[in-house]
Formats: sequence, C-alpha cells, structure tokens
Amino acid sequence: MTDIIVGVVALAVVLLFFLYQNLKTKRYKLPPGPTALPVIGNLHQLQKLNPQRFFYGWARKYGPILSYKIGSRTMVVISSAELTKELLKMQDVNFTDRPQHRSHEVISYGRRDMVLSHYTPYYREIRKMAMNHLFSPTRVATFKHVREEEVTRMMVKINKAAEKSEAVDVSELMMTLGNSVVCRQAFGKKYNEDGEEMKRFIKIVYGIQNVLGKIYFSDIFPFTGYVLDDLTGLTAYMNECFERQDTYLQEIIDETLDPNRVKPETESMIDLLMDIYKDQPLASDFTIENVKAVILDIITGGTETAAAGVVWGMTYLMKYPKVMKKAQAEVREYMRERGLTFVTEDDIKNLPYFRALVKETLRIEPVIPLLIPRSCIQDTKIAGYDIPAGTTVNVNVWAVSRDEKEWGHDADEFRPERFLEKDVDFKGTDYEFIPFGSGRRMCPGMRLGAAMLEVPYANLLLNFDFKLANGMKSEDINMDVMTGFAMHKSQHHMLVPQKVWK
Ligand code: HEM
Repeated sequence: MTDIIVGVVALAVVLLFFLYQNLKTKRYKLPPGPTALPVIGNLHQLQKLNPQRFFYGWARKYGPILSYKIGSRTMVVISSAELTKELLKMQDVNFTDRPQHRSHEVISYGRRDMVLSHYTPYYREIRKMAMNHLFSPTRVATFKHVREEEVTRMMVKINKAAEKSEAVDVSELMMTLGNSVVCRQAFGKKYNEDGEEMKRFIKIVYGIQNVLGKIYFSDIFPFTGYVLDDLTGLTAYMNECFERQDTYLQEIIDETLDPNRVKPETESMIDLLMDIYKDQPLASDFTIENVKAVILDIITGGTETAAAGVVWGMTYLMKYPKVMKKAQAEVREYMRERGLTFVTEDDIKNLPYFRALVKETLRIEPVIPLLIPRSCIQDTKIAGYDIPAGTTVNVNVWAVSRDEKEWGHDADEFRPERFLEKDVDFKGTDYEFIPFGSGRRMCPGMRLGAAMLEVPYANLLLNFDFKLANGMKSEDINMDVMTGFAMHKSQHHMLVPQKVWK
C-alpha cells in the first residue's frame, strides 16, 4: 500500500513539474522547431552521428534560428552569419555563460577552469591571465622548437613508411603529435610515444572527452536527482574517469613541488600556474584544484583540435587533387628556392595559397562545429523570438560556413581560392567564418592552435605525395564525424606516402 502511495505521489510531482514547465514556456514566443513530446521533448529525434549536419537539416526546415527541447530544457540553434553576429557581437555579454551539465561540473573541479566556467569575476580574471601569459605571443613562441621537433619526428616516421611503401594512419599520427606537443608544453614532459606513460595519458584524455560529451538524466530530468545516473552507471564511469585524471594531475603537481626536480629547458605551462598558486596575485583564491582545472583546458583544447583539422585537410585534399597539386607546388617551390627542407612557423606567412587552404579547411569542416554551448543569462529576443534565461544556445558553425548569402552556391566545394578573393579571417570579427568562435568566450588558444595545425600540414605537403590505402577511391572516403569536444573524422584516414625528395 505504501508503495502505491509513493508511486502516485511521485507521478503527481512529475506531472506537476511538466505542467509548470509547459505553462512557463507557453508565455514565450520561442523560435520555430519540431514538436516536442511530453517529458522527453525531442530527445528521441536527435542523432549522435554528424550532429552538425543533422541540425543543418533542421535549419533548412525551420530557419536560421530554431528551438527544440531536451527533457524540460529549451535549446536553440543559430545557423546564419547574420544571427551569429547578433548573438556573439550585439548580445555577447548575455550569452557568455555555460549551461548546467553534471559532468562538466565534476571534471572541471566545480568549474574552476576556463572552458566550462560560469561567467563569474573569477572566470574573467583567469581568462585575462591566460590571454596575457599562458597564450601570449611570447609564450606561444617559446614552444616553437617543441612543435617543430615533434613534427620532425612525425616526418621521420612517415619517411620510413614511404621507404617500404606502407600505409600510414594520418589520424593516429596527428593524435600522437598533438599529445606529445601538449605534454611538453603543459608539463615539460617528453614521453616515449609508445610507452606506458603516454598510454596512460591517452586513456585519461579519452575518458575526459567521453564523460564531457555524455547526456546526464539529472540535467534533463532534474526531478529524478542522480537516481537514473546512478542506475545506468553514468555516475560510476564519471567518477572513475575523474579519479584517474585527478591522480595523474596530482602526481604532476607533486613533481613540480619537489625541490630536487630538474626544471624543463622552457618553463612549462604548469610552472606558470604554480607560480600563480604560490604568489596568489588574483583577487579570487587560486588553489591546487584551480591549477588542475586550468591545465585540463590546455589538455582538452590542445590535444585534438589541430590534429582533427589536419586530418580533415588531408581528407579533402584527397578528394580535390587539383587543390593538392597547387598547394604542394607553392610550398615546394618556395622551399626549393631557399634550399630549405622544413617549413617553419615563420615560412607560413609567405605561402598565400597554403594560408587560404588552412582557412578553407577550417571553413568546410570546423573542428568544433557547434561551438561550446552558451547559456542565456537574462530573457532576451533574437530575430523577434523570445530566448528565456537559462536557454542553451549552440551556433552551428558548420551551417554558417554554408550560408549561401555569404559563401554563394558552391559553399560545399573545397575551394581555397575563395579566401584569396575575399578578405576574411578567423579572428572572430568575420561572422561568416568563426572556427575559433567569437566574442568574450572566443578560443584563447587560437594562435597556438593555428601553429599546431599549420606546421605539420605544410610539411606533409612539402615532403610527400599520397595515395589512398587499400585501393580506395576518393568518392568512397567516409566523411562521418565522431562526436566529441573536437569532431574528428570517425574513420581513420589511411594514406600511402611517396617521398618527393630522394
Ligand atoms: C585548431 C585549433 C583550435 C580550434 C579550431 C579551437 C576552437 C575553439 C572554439 C570554437 C572554442 C569555443 C569558442 C566559443 O564558444 O566562441 C574554443 C574555446 C576554447 N579553446 Fe580552443 N581551439 C583550438 C585550439 C586550442 C588550443 C591549442 C587551446 C589551448 C591549449 C585551446 C583552448 C581553448 C579554451 C581554454 C577555450 C574556452 C574559452 C572560454 O570559454 O573562455 N584551444 N576553441
């Protein structure tokens, strides 16, 4: 009998909750979108595979601003350059917050990092510190030799494969490169690429990416508390990944505190953060947990983004051989004339077609295609529709890159020349092209990210011609993305390199 009464009361609470939510949203004139079911909203319609293309499809049906529901939460997607400008320029301050998400809270030590932090005075302080110190042009330049050494190592590996006419896994090579560069920049650690420590680091990174991308019942059905998360194993998995990450970061911090430690030749990012911990120059407390949280941003931001970009670039180049030839010719001629054998960061500015190719790569496959979701702070209007406080907003950069008003009818074509015809850059003020985002939450690692992408990309073009592995034809290349923080090509890109210089 007691069970029945508890059941009836629970059902009544759920119904009242949804009735209240329904009445609340009825007051608003929300952007158009698909009809939502009671309780789950549009959850059943969402696709995990290629979400950027899925939302692009919805945008074609419902328009450049659309809304849908996940459980009781209102979600909005923006898909045109004009409305992106409205959101990230005109109303930027009101959209600087990040939405509620259980694992984001846990993994980031209660949002003490930058990526997931709410828009608080603490956030503004660390963001300023990061712009002035962590990611300043001087700091980015101090790690130039690290990036170049690691790319050289990668070229040696490809060379060996070329000598044996063996295929290389470009996705794997680029991920390894990203991990090695990040470990050296962030911690001053040079791991053996196939060694146990690197394997441990990779497992931690995968765990973080995985946990951050999951949907938690407690976020979409808050009335269930953590019960469903616990029952489905989500809580246990999240805690396990967090423990793994925390143990690793604590070990790194202990090492930096060891008075007998041999300091790396270039001051690593964690040393700089530990100085802030020791000197406490910020108005907000900067504890060891804050150090861990910020270093986590450097790991998540740095390991995958540039790698995914180069893999997409090499994928499109295999589909567009004329573009490949033109880019190779420019890089090779420039280097041959100067008798050089390694493209450095300084050479890139003298390679206009290659620079256009980098932009076109980031336009056609932006590696964070839905940006990192923003949360609306106060009720507002966009394009005549109400956006209630607490709404989660995504900008579908992938769709904005295909906005015909800005890019014409051939936006799906891979054509770097468009960037020679149109003076557009990714610095966040040309709203039709924002692979690094825009406004107050724009990527602070843009300069570093661009360097990590351009140097391996240019050296691949300089040193090798490529064929698709296993007799694959270019039209058969799978273009699906793997959902995560940065969206990789889901199937690894296998190519057979041929040496250009004998
Ligand atoms: C090709 C490389 C990269 C791309 C395409 C990229 C792209 C982005 C994008 C789209 C955002 C969201 C911006 C927004 O919401 O408006 C972002 C945020 C961020 N990125 Fe990057 N990123 C790259 C490399 C890096 C690197 C190397 C780091 C650090 C080592 C980094 C650190 C961050 C951080 C900390 C944020 C959060 C900023 C905030 O919320 O205030 N990124 N990035």
